[in-house]
Amino acid sequence: MLRKCLILLVFCCAFLGAKDPDVLYLTWVSDPATTMVISWHTDKGEGETALLLQQKGEANWRPVAGNAHEVTGTETWVRKVQLEGLAPNTEYLFRIGEEMEVYRFKTLPRGGKEQVHFVVGGDAYQLGSLFHEMNVAIAKKNPDFVVIGGDIAYTIENRITRGKWWEIDRWQKFFVEWKKTMRTKDGCLIPMVPLVGNHDVPHGLVDPAKSPLMFYELFAFPMAGKAYRTLDVNRYLRLILLDTNHTWPVKGEQSEWLKSALSAKSAWKIPVYHVAAYPSYYSENADTTKKIRKWWVPLFEQNGVQLVFEHHNHCYKRTFPLKEGKVDDKGIVYFGDGSWGVPPRKYKKNIPYIAHAESINGCYSVTVSQSTCTVASFTSSGTPIEPPVTFSLR
Ligand SMILES: [Fe+2]
Repeated sequence: MLRKCLILLVFCCAFLGAKDPDVLYLTWVSDPATTMVISWHTDKGEGETALLLQQKGEANWRPVAGNAHEVTGTETWVRKVQLEGLAPNTEYLFRIGEEMEVYRFKTLPRGGKEQVHFVVGGDAYQLGSLFHEMNVAIAKKNPDFVVIGGDIAYTIENRITRGKWWEIDRWQKFFVEWKKTMRTKDGCLIPMVPLVGNHDVPHGLVDPAKSPLMFYELFAFPMAGKAYRTLDVNRYLRLILLDTNHTWPVKGEQSEWLKSALSAKSAWKIPVYHVAAYPSYYSENADTTKKIRKWWVPLFEQNGVQLVFEHHNHCYKRTFPLKEGKVDDKGIVYFGDGSWGVPPRKYKKNIPYIAHAESINGCYSVTVSQSTCTVASFTSSGTPIEPPVTFSLR
C-alpha cells in the first residue's frame, strides 16, 4: 500500500505544470473487450509515460505506466500505455496527470448478445474541410470504433516523401482533428483501427524492420512491422485487416496468413483493405487489383465471406454479389470506394459488376449481431447515399 502511494506521489509531482496533449488516440493490438492502447505525443524530454485510470464508479485512480519512443528523425515522442485486464462493455476514465482533463472510453462487449457498431471509410485526411465534415457525421453515428481503410493523412504524396518534419506535422494535424471530433454522444473517445494505404508509407515495399516508417512508429500492431492483422469482436465478428502491397506483398506470407485468418469460426468474417479488387475508378487490370483477385478473392469465396470493404478510388460504390467474377446471389458484395475526405472522382460508367456508384463523399455505418449485418451508407451531411443492405447468416 505504501509503495503504491509513493508511486502515485511521484507520478503526481512529475505532472505538475504539464499540459494536456493535443495528440491523443486510442486503438487495439489485442482483445477490444479487455484492452486498450492509449497513445499521445510530447516534445522530446517532456512529460512521463504513465496515466491515471479508474473504472466508472470507482473512487480511486490507479497509475499505469507505459513506454515511449522517439519518432525517427523528429523531436516527437510517442508515449503508449497498454491497458489490460479491463472489464468488457464498461466505461473507463483516464487522465495523463493530476489536474488534467479526464477522458473516457468504453471497452467492447464480449458476451456475444450485444450488437457491435462501427464505421468504416478510407482516404481520409486529404482536404481538411472535407475530413472535418465527415468526422462530424461519423461521430453523430455514435460508433464503438472507426476503421480507416488506408491513405489516412496523405503523408506520402505521389510517391514523394517531403521529409520527416513535414510528415510528422501532417500526421499531428490529422490526430489533432481526430481528437477534437471523434467522440460519442456521451463523450467517450472513439478508438481508431488504422489500415495502411499507398499514401501512408513510401512506395516500394520498404521493410519497416530495416528502415523506420513513421506509420509503424505511430500505431501499435499485434505483429511488429505488419499492419495486416485480425480484430475479433464479441465472439461473432472477425475483421480481417489487410495490406494491399504497401509494406507486404499480396502474394506469399500474407496470403498464407490470410488462409489461417479465414479459417476462424466467427459468424462474420469481413475483410477490409485499401486497393480495390473491383474498382469504380481505377483499371481492373492494375497490378495489385489483379493480384488481390488471384490470391485473396478465391479464399474469401471459399470461407464464407459475404461482404468486403475496399477503398483507394475516391468514389462511392457497391457491387452486385460476385462469385468467380460473375454476378451470383451466393457471392460477395464489395463496398467502397474510399471517399472520406478527398475530392470525389468521376466513377467509371457501365462496369458490369457495379450495382450502384456515385461521385460523392461517403462512409459506412455497420451494425453486426450474431445473425445479421447491416451496412448503411452516409454522406458528410449524415444522409443515406442509398438504402441499407442487410446480410443474414447463410
Ligand atoms: Fe490510395
